[in-house]
Amino acid sequence: MDLKGRTAIVTGAARGIGRGIALKLADAGANVALVDLGSPGDPSLTYNLAAQTDLNRTVEEVKARGVKAIPILADVTRLADCTRMAAEAGDKLGGIDILVNNAGVISIGAVVDFAEEAWDRVMAVNAKGPFLCAKACIPHIAKRGAGAIVNIASVAGKTGHATLSAYCTSKFAVIGFTQSLAEELGPANIRVNAVCPGFLRTAMWTDVLNPVVGQMYGVNREAAFDEIIARNTFLRREQTPDDIGDAVVYLCRADNITGESINVAGGGELH
Ligand SMILES: NC(=O)c1ccc[n+]([C@@H]2O[C@H](COP(=O)([O-])OP(=O)(O)OC[C@H]3O[C@@H](n4cnc5c(N)ncnc54)[C@H](O)[C@@H]3O)[C@@H](O)[C@H]2O)c1
Repeated sequence: MDLKGRTAIVTGAARGIGRGIALKLADAGANVALVDLGSPGDPSLTYNLAAQTDLNRTVEEVKARGVKAIPILADVTRLADCTRMAAEAGDKLGGIDILVNNAGVISIGAVVDFAEEAWDRVMAVNAKGPFLCAKACIPHIAKRGAGAIVNIASVAGKTGHATLSAYCTSKFAVIGFTQSLAEELGPANIRVNAVCPGFLRTAMWTDVLNPVVGQMYGVNREAAFDEIIARNTFLRREQTPDDIGDAVVYLCRADNITGESINVAGGGELH
């Protein structure tokens, strides 16, 4: 699929990996609807999500690539928001060809101490969000006769880890959803794949995981991330939002690939 002039929705696009995906899709010529919450405070999480100013700044960066870009405020855990998101992107950008389900949250802790609200929120954003966004966008994409959905899962969707049970469970779910939807939408010529990022220096690591891993290894936050990279990747280097954006663009273009979950992890996960 040639991406020039196509329309893509990217959720969680204000910052981090979503921002990288939106910029790479723009470089490939796609117009982009950038979706995010617009309110950083979530009482069930221990770190801040993106603000509306982050979203607006990223929209300007995408526009500077010479494509159309619009911001949409939506919570991917609410069907009404997802339906409005799809309608607005379709109206303002002339249809929908691509959906990238990237919005995600993390919470860490042993199961015995883990708050039920935190479990519910992680599952709602990471696992239910892609379902609701797909449900809202599929009728629009189907009208085009072809399209692509890319879900951002994780290497944590391939192997479970202590203190990450909610996050890992949600990402395993994303991979199962990807395979199921790929079979369901194959006859409609809509391909569904997942990218499983490895280790990126975004808020999930800098604000949540690094302090915990640092304590575990007896080093400071920054050294903790470097230690994880050294121990877990064949290539001994971290991944970047550009790396994930490149993989998303590849999967959007790859006309005979569906149902796959591709690791972009420098060798940090092999199955
Ligand atoms: N950082 C990593 O190492 C890593 C590794 C594997 C997978 N991932 C996945 O990549 C995706 C992006 O994560 P990131 O690392 O860029 O983190 P991030 O926190 O920087 O970005 C997540 C974005 O999602 C938005 N968001 C959260 N809840 C939302 C909701 N309910 N509705 C709409 N938007 C919402 C946030 O505001 C934020 O802009 C997530 O799905 C994450 O699980 C990250």
